[in-house]
Amino acid sequence: MVRNKLLQGVTIPRHIAIIMDGNGRWAKKRMLPRSVGHKHGMDRMIGLMEHAFDLGVQYITVYALSTENLKRPQEELDGLFALFRNNFREGLGKVCARGVRLRALGDVSLLPEDIVEELRMSEAETAQYEGRGINIAVCYGARDEIVHAVNKAIEKGEKVTEDSFADLLYTHDLPDPDLIIRTGKEVRLSNFLLYQAAYSELYFSQKMFPEFSDKDLDKAIVDFSKRTRRFGKTDEQLS
Ligand code: IPE
Ligand code: IPE
Ligand code: MG
Repeated sequence: MVRNKLLQGVTIPRHIAIIMDGNGRWAKKRMLPRSVGHKHGMDRMIGLMEHAFDLGVQYITVYALSTENLKRPQEELDGLFALFRNNFREGLGKVCARGVRLRALGDVSLLPEDIVEELRMSEAETAQYEGRGINIAVCYGARDEIVHAVNKAIEKGEKVTEDSFADLLYTHDLPDPDLIIRTGKEVRLSNFLLYQAAYSELYFSQKMFPEFSDKDLDKAIVDFSKRTRRFGKTDEQLS
């Protein structure tokens, strides 16, 4: 485990989820096309994943494309799909080669067929790895996820509990995120992990995603480790 000075003695979150926002504005500010912002964002995401695993993080969930993002201009979506094929896939492969399990969360059937196949293949190839995982939330919407889960429960014809309902979500065998980071100045969840985020710590960064550095992640982790997670209890009960 690689720990720099800033992180000595700090609690490392087991599961970090990241809303990578601000690629478009990053590009616009530089008079570049949005697609260039997405390219820089995806490259940065690979770097951040490597850094997070080096620190001992076990699970990283990345919000790559929301169900609502599917309403963006087709040209932008085609650019994102091309980026996945030509760039992100290889980067993810490199990270997964370190013994990391890849999973796609979301209604992937809405993606082009070759990308679905690619994702399914990577999921199968990395399914034997335990303990560390990358989850790509793609064509993901928390409301869509919850509605899917409700329909599955109805099909089963059984009443649900909090735990049995969680088992019907796309994230069924993953621990809830300890820390959710959103870049790009906005202070909202934008339909991300609404059920799972019940007790996640939230961290909002002013930086656009392509400029969110490894050191910025370290700072978010330091901030996280200073919080008291009470889960409804009193301080006295915790100590
Ligand atoms: C987030 O960046 C990445 C995706 C939604 C695919 P945006 O594309 O939302 O960037 P901004 O918010 O327009 O800057
Ligand atoms: C959230 O970003 C979705 C992803 C990062 C994939 P958006 O850019 O879509 O969020 P809004 O529209 O500003 O809420
Ligand atoms: Mg955005």
